[in-house]
Amino acid sequence: MIATLKFTTLLLAVVVCWATQDYGYKDVEEPTLGDSQYGSLWPLPQKVQMSTVAFKLSGASFQIVDAKESSSGASCSLLQNAYRRYDEYIFPISRMQGQNKKKAFASDVSELQVWITSADSECDSYPSVTSDESYELSVDSPVAVLKAPKVWGALRGLETFSQLVYDDEYGAKSINRTEIQDFPRFAHRGLLLDTSRHFLPIKVILANLEAMAWNKFNVFHWHIVDDHSFPYMSRTFPQLSQQGAYHPYTHVYTPSDVKMIIEFARLRGIRVVSEFDTPGHTQSWGKGQKDLLTPCYSGTSPSGSFGPVNPILNTTYDFMTMFFKEVSTVFPDAYIHLGGDEVDFSCWKSNPDIQKFMAQQGFGTDYSKLESFYIQRCVASVRHGLKVKQMISNSLKSNTVVHVWMGNKFEEELQKVTGAGFTTILSAPWYLDYISYGQDWQRYYKVEPLSFNGTDAQKKLVVGGEACLWGEFVDATNLTPRLWPRASAVGERLWSDKDVKDTNDAYSRLIQHRCRMVQRGIPAEPLFTGYCAHEYKGV
Ligand SMILES: *[C@@H]1O[C@H](CO)[C@@H](O)[C@H](O)[C@H]1NC(C)=O
Ligand SMILES: *[C@@H]1O[C@H](CO)[C@@H](O)[C@H](O)[C@H]1NC(C)=O
Ligand SMILES: *[C@@H]1O[C@H](CO)[C@@H](O)[C@H](O)[C@H]1NC(C)=O
Repeated sequence: MIATLKFTTLLLAVVVCWATQDYGYKDVEEPTLGDSQYGSLWPLPQKVQMSTVAFKLSGASFQIVDAKESSSGASCSLLQNAYRRYDEYIFPISRMQGQNKKKAFASDVSELQVWITSADSECDSYPSVTSDESYELSVDSPVAVLKAPKVWGALRGLETFSQLVYDDEYGAKSINRTEIQDFPRFAHRGLLLDTSRHFLPIKVILANLEAMAWNKFNVFHWHIVDDHSFPYMSRTFPQLSQQGAYHPYTHVYTPSDVKMIIEFARLRGIRVVSEFDTPGHTQSWGKGQKDLLTPCYSGTSPSGSFGPVNPILNTTYDFMTMFFKEVSTVFPDAYIHLGGDEVDFSCWKSNPDIQKFMAQQGFGTDYSKLESFYIQRCVASVRHGLKVKQMISNSLKSNTVVHVWMGNKFEEELQKVTGAGFTTILSAPWYLDYISYGQDWQRYYKVEPLSFNGTDAQKKLVVGGEACLWGEFVDATNLTPRLWPRASAVGERLWSDKDVKDTNDAYSRLIQHRCRMVQRGIPAEPLFTGYCAHEYKGV
């Protein structure tokens, strides 16, 4: 009798719980889960032919080696580094436990030969927007061959190879006979991380660079400073981080930190594009650099607060010239992102000296002309600049790239910006800091960057895009799971063919890709209910 009563209570509790779970559930669009004919490949290569002929791989006898014909030679440390990395990804358990080599079975595929085909492998170069990332992969027995003109394609191909390896039903490493020809659809596939609103420890940045490589991203857009803090330690102006960082020693990136991040990224074929946003978003700069910011007025006297960079002082441009000279030597990439968005004109308007300058220049009351004046003088001191959409009315240098961010109507913006002849990168639909209930990866996935009205010539000007994770609500505790696998959706959109848009197929591959990231040590969040064979074990 008592037992029955207990049972009833339990049942009631279950029903109540069920009812609660139903709340807010309507928005979830649940794709059908089946097996993809492409296994767990992510992003999907341009051309894949996979067979059901399966080969065994043994950690004891399988090796990744330079092909004899390869132009890279054995001295290419970028490749040697990558071989070691991928060997560990492919055989995580056996390598960790130091499995006895003698005991293991022989591999059907004994070698992956990596063959760099062009005379200059670019082993010691930095990747750029024109880097060749194409490769061809042929998996057969007894050898698999990865051919690429440059090391950049070899890196992408090694990742693809590692994604082809799976555990068969007995847990043995297997790989199917496969032919792949691959290259990216867009040359610029970026991820923006924000280290100003919250400081991100080096370890977190490196872990995410690693995850970027798994998703074939090739640009780390480092939004390094902003209003909130100035963690970049400048050699020329050390007081900027002394005064402007959250903490002058523990919350800064030293020159050697920056160097290490750039090299770590290079070894994975990732560019580091630094952003130093001006004239707005510069409160933290003002702490360490006297007279850089515009004093705001309340009536006829200074209010004690400061606005954007002061565009009417020659000292401003002297400072910017020296500062960006340093930045362009620290960051080897050809591009520096100059921000330039969301300038609040109210402080400029309040300042009588600025008003006088406006009148002298004949700007009337159009403060966007003052902004343009600043940007043009500033750009003159920087090699190349990436700039935001608001700046398109300016006569910018031809080597300027316009970055379209914010706004719901990105198609209209792209139409305008490319219509004006600017090379463009897109971020507006990929603000990963906006979170919502359900599978929002699908929303990012379904974006078609070239859906705007424009000529073929205009569409060619869109060189890629960036997923952005702004840092208001993000630090080391939640960055990685918030980013992955949501950013993976953008990764495939920017790499794979435009016709790769079957959400059900993507869902099946992405679930496995996410579990692979988890197995490789990244706490990538789940897409929905389910499990991974190797769950996240914590740090
Ligand atoms: C690989 O081969 C196995 C064994 O024939 C087969 O069951 C599986 O579907 C194949 N995988 C892919 C992705 O083709
Ligand atoms: C600022 O620089 C401009 C252009 O080089 C020059 O014409 C002007 O005299 C300078 N103003 C001051 C106050 O030095
Ligand atoms: C493209 O132009 C057509 C005709 O002017 C218009 O109906 C359509 O909404 C436009 N599409 C986009 C994405 O702007």
